[in-house]
Amino acid sequence: MFEQADPVEAARAIQERAPGFAPVAAVVLGSGLAAIAEGMTDAVAIGYADIPGFPDPAVDGHPGQLLVGTLGGLPTICVVGRVHGYEGHGLAAMRTPIRAARLLGCEVIYLTCAAGGLNPDLGSGRLMAVRDHLNLTGGDPLVGRNDPSVGPRFPDMTQAYDPGLLSLQQEVAQDLGLDLAEGVYAGVLGPSFETPAEVRMLRALGADAVGMSLVPECILARHCGLRVTATAVITNASGAASGYADGHAETLASAGAAAGGLARLVAGCLSRLAAGRTPR
Ligand code: HPA
Repeated sequence: MFEQADPVEAARAIQERAPGFAPVAAVVLGSGLAAIAEGMTDAVAIGYADIPGFPDPAVDGHPGQLLVGTLGGLPTICVVGRVHGYEGHGLAAMRTPIRAARLLGCEVIYLTCAAGGLNPDLGSGRLMAVRDHLNLTGGDPLVGRNDPSVGPRFPDMTQAYDPGLLSLQQEVAQDLGLDLAEGVYAGVLGPSFETPAEVRMLRALGADAVGMSLVPECILARHCGLRVTATAVITNASGAASGYADGHAETLASAGAAAGGLARLVAGCLSRLAAGRTPR
């Protein structure tokens, strides 16, 4: 279990361990997608245990850590190890890491995740840039008292996934020769996978992929003013007759196989953002 903390304290703890570091982007790494952080240079690792309010991710048995360094030439923090709503800490479990990233000066957050394909075109191993989402988690991470110094009571979600960053993903994918689909992500609570009837329902609702992360993080990030972009790795055909005998192992194996392409995509996008910035 962990306790939420004031993100100001979390940001201070990070600054103490990486003095003078001014990140522009945060990247949240999904299950099996650790390869994304391998391209970092001058990275300093800070264990979640050393940052107040950072949750303990239990799903893979790896301790969470924040990597503070440079990715694609842009000062970046990589959040390695997320917690999901189904772990029982509530949908707001990622609140402190996301708000601390904003307090440290991040302008952009790049969310990555594994997802099940619903659209028949989206087979295992494909990458899907997220254009929009359906929040089907049954809750919202902003339920409760609102702190207006963080963001508005009723945040606008009409452009939850930044259209400029979505185009950037497509441009970079094209430059790198990467196949990148685009679609709508349905966020569910989990941890049980979908029944065949639920898969039919999600397709009928217009979802292209389904997963158990991303949506609460996108809401938290938009609320505090971060520009959001997201890419899902399709790890399985959701509801496929082959079933989910070892669903999580399958997710990790397929995510690992596609992680190289996603790592190039993320670094490519950050480097394009770095090229467009004046140094500070
Ligand atoms: N359903 C929900 N979440 C997932 C899936 C799935 O099929 N695959 C990876 N995450």
